[in-house]
Formats: sequence, C-alpha cells, structure tokens
Amino acid sequence: MLRSGFLEDPGVDGIVLPVSSGEPATVVAGADAADRLGVNVVELLARHGIKGECGEIFAVPLPLDAPRMLYLAGVGGGTAGEWRRTGAAVAKRCRDCRALALPGDQLSDESLTALTEGIVLGGYRYRVAGADAKGADVRRVDLLTEDPIGRQEALGDALVGARTTLCARDLANTPSLVKSPQWLAEQAAALAGPAGLDVRIRDDRELEAEGFGGLVAVGRGSTRPPRLIELSYRPPGARSHIVLVGKGITFDSGGLSLKPSDGMVSMKTDMAGGAAVIAAMTALAERHVRVQVTGLVPAAENLPSGSAQRPGDVIRHYGGRTSEVLNTDAEGRLVLADALAYADGVLRPDVLIDIATLTGAASLGLGRRHGALYATSEELAAQLEAAAHRAGERVWRMPLVEDYRFAIDSRVADLANTATSRDISGGSILAAMFLREFTGGRPWAHLDIAGPARADSDEYEVTKGATGFGARLLLRWLEERT
Ligand code: BES
Ligand code: MN
Ligand code: ZN
Repeated sequence: MLRSGFLEDPGVDGIVLPVSSGEPATVVAGADAADRLGVNVVELLARHGIKGECGEIFAVPLPLDAPRMLYLAGVGGGTAGEWRRTGAAVAKRCRDCRALALPGDQLSDESLTALTEGIVLGGYRYRVAGADAKGADVRRVDLLTEDPIGRQEALGDALVGARTTLCARDLANTPSLVKSPQWLAEQAAALAGPAGLDVRIRDDRELEAEGFGGLVAVGRGSTRPPRLIELSYRPPGARSHIVLVGKGITFDSGGLSLKPSDGMVSMKTDMAGGAAVIAAMTALAERHVRVQVTGLVPAAENLPSGSAQRPGDVIRHYGGRTSEVLNTDAEGRLVLADALAYADGVLRPDVLIDIATLTGAASLGLGRRHGALYATSEELAAQLEAAAHRAGERVWRMPLVEDYRFAIDSRVADLANTATSRDISGGSILAAMFLREFTGGRPWAHLDIAGPARADSDEYEVTKGATGFGARLLLRWLEERT
C-alpha cells in the first residue's frame, strides 16, 4: 500500500533517503527529514565512503522507536531505469521494515514513478495459495510530501503499471496442474468484470464449429480442451480499434515432437504473452485509454497422447489457410494464426499486435532481457520502442527477411510450421513471417518474448520466474493512442 504520510507516524519503522553518485555523493531528497531525526547525513556519507551507486543500500540503525532504521539508497546518475532499480533494491533490502517512509518532494514525477514501480515490482514474490509466506515484506510505503494531490498522477502511473505486471506474473507463475485453458479463461473472466471489460469464451465445440483448426489441433492431445478468450474494451467515442493477441499455451511439452525434460521445466510460462494481454487489458478503463481494444488469447495445452496431432498432419486455420505440421513443438504459431486470421477477418482492427513466447531462437539471439520486435510499419515499431523505454522493458527491432520466406513453403499446404530447408536458420524470423501471413496486410507488430518472459534469478525489478514482461509495454503504448 502506498499513501501519503508524515515522518512522525509511529507506524513507520524505516525511512529511505536516495543518494546520487558523484564527488561527493549527495542526498537527493529528504535532507530535511534527516535533520529532524538528528542525523548528519553529510558526515555519514563521508565516514562510510558511500558512493551512491545504483542498488547500493546502507542501513543505519537510529536510536529511536520510529523510525528505527535509516536507509541510504544509491540512485547512481538518476535515470528512470536507475530509480526503478533503486526501488527494487529498497523493496528487497528493507523487507524487515514493514512500513517505510519515502521523501517525495524533491523528486521529479518521472523519478517518483520509476522508484515506486521498482518498489512494487522488486518486492514481488509468487505465493502458492495456502502455503506459508516465507519472511516478511514491506507492506506500506508512506510518501512524505507537502502536495499529496499533485503527486497522485505520478503514483497512479506507477501503481497501475506495476499492478498489471504483477497480475501477469501471477498468471504465468501458476503451475500447469492448476492452469488449464479453462482455468485461464476463468481468471480472465473474473478480472474482466471489475475492469469494465466484456468477455467471451469459446469452448472446444464452438472452436471446432467455427473453424479454429490450429487451436483445436494443438489442444487435442490434452484431456483439458482449448479455449479462445476474447476480452473487449469499448470506450465511448473511440476512433480506432486495436487487437492484441497473446499466446496462451498453458503448458508446452512439445506434443509428440516431445521436448527434452530440461526444456520442459519452464513451460508453464508459455502463456506469458496471453498473461501480458489479459493484464494490460485490466488497466485500460482505469487509465482512460481512448481507443477500442480487443484482447485475444488462444489457450491450449500442448501434450502428447493417443489423440494428439502428428507431425505431417495438415490442419486448416480460421479463414481457410492450411498448415503442414512438421513439428508439433512449433505450436504457438498454429494457435496464433487462428487468432490473427479471426482478428483480420472479423474484428478488422486498425492495428494488430501479438505477443508470444514463440521461439528459443529469439532468446539465443538477444539474450534474456530483450524482447524481439518485428513490425510491418515503421511508425508502429517506433511507437512500441518508445513505449518499451517508458515501461523499462527492453526490445530490439528484428528484420522480416524476404529471402527467407521460401523456407516455410509447403508442398502439401499453404505453409509449413517450421523450416523445410536445413540451411536457413533464423527461427525467430521465420516464425514471425509465418504469423505475418495471417494479418491480412494490416499494420502489425509481433513481440517474441521467449527470452525476457522468464528470469532464472532476481535482478532488480525483474523477479525470478515469470517476469510479466510486456504488460507494461502494451499498457504504456495504449495510453498514448487516440
Ligand atoms: N514455447 C516454445 C519456445 C520457447 C523455448 C520459449 C524456450 C521459452 C523458452 C515454442 O513453442 C517452441 O517450442 N518453439 C520451438 C520451435 C521449433 C520447433 C521450430 C523452438 O524454439 O525450439
Ligand atoms: Mn513448443
Ligand atoms: Zn510453446
């Protein structure tokens, strides 16, 4: 919880003073509070050689009941990214202080937003319902400010953004034992009501009847059938319509083209793109987004069984295009193709964006902190890059290489779901080009988030497990649309 407060509140047990690097390191905000507490910060900084490097936290016990701790938190050069990291470092280091005070008045709105975002994001831990929480957490942050109303917007920005990320993390961290396609649909429906969204869930019979052949084929190996989640946000007076499509594979074993067991461990997060879409949509009304937005999450569990699809099968997508399934582990594009074709043919949006943990190749190329961005419109690409920067989520533009396109031609269907030519490589690019075939030439962007959707360890605001990558990026982009 974040609220405005005052230093002498007996409930506050720690106060955080941000320190910027430089010669000498200096306290950026809250020097007056330190004075009131009788602490000589200039002397403290000098005596302990505190450099103010981003992430560095120096704890000083105070001879008081409240606050009993002072934290000198390094913010480095004070970029937004550094403020976000500082917030995360504070949330982790100060867990034993349940309530923290933060001097707000000398911080810019941008710094305050990033710092707050960092505190909420960095303090996140996934909790299995019913299990005992390990250790304590920062529960409350009081912002010391003379102008609580004036700072509300900066705080709102941060809290809504961070909350969408946490929502995406929770969905993606949920084990697949619980997380069936139906479970995911129920979560989306439960979130939709309070967020002012309409929801439509198509079950397996409707999907079959309406021709969603990719989603049906991928879901056929599991006893837990596929679903198509459709969330709609329709603000009055909207002049344009955007469709977001998120991959919703609730578990990816590879199907009959089975993954090795090491490669399967993290595959409960193979619906992280869908989680980002659902989470971003929950914030649209609150953020007064002006455009119409439809979120589509094709959800299926990719398992091998006697009823699973086989390598060599030819399937018919929504709208009639066919795919030859050379590898059942390239399942994401098969379910996304249906959703994109449905969006193009029925929803007819002005812009189409999909987000998916699509290829290991994307994370091989860009590593684990950058998402791969593909776009058929320069303007859209630039907007998404800017939104990613604001959100503190990194993307890198990738090319759609026309010379590679032949590699997904099939002799028996319109397309093959993996390369038919051995010497082509570029797995992330080919997957993107496969998807492009279903976008009907509409302005389209594709985010391959196989790398950044998960983290193997905590790193500042990025927490181990599902990271929620993409939810804030999408939200920040939508906030700017008219
Ligand atoms: N969900 C995986 C991609 C993935 C791999 C995400 C590793 C996160 C970490 C996807 O469905 C997949 O299996 N892709 C295959 C495609 C290949 C068969 C053409 C891959 O990347 O190996
Ligand atoms: Mn797969
Ligand atoms: Zn997958």
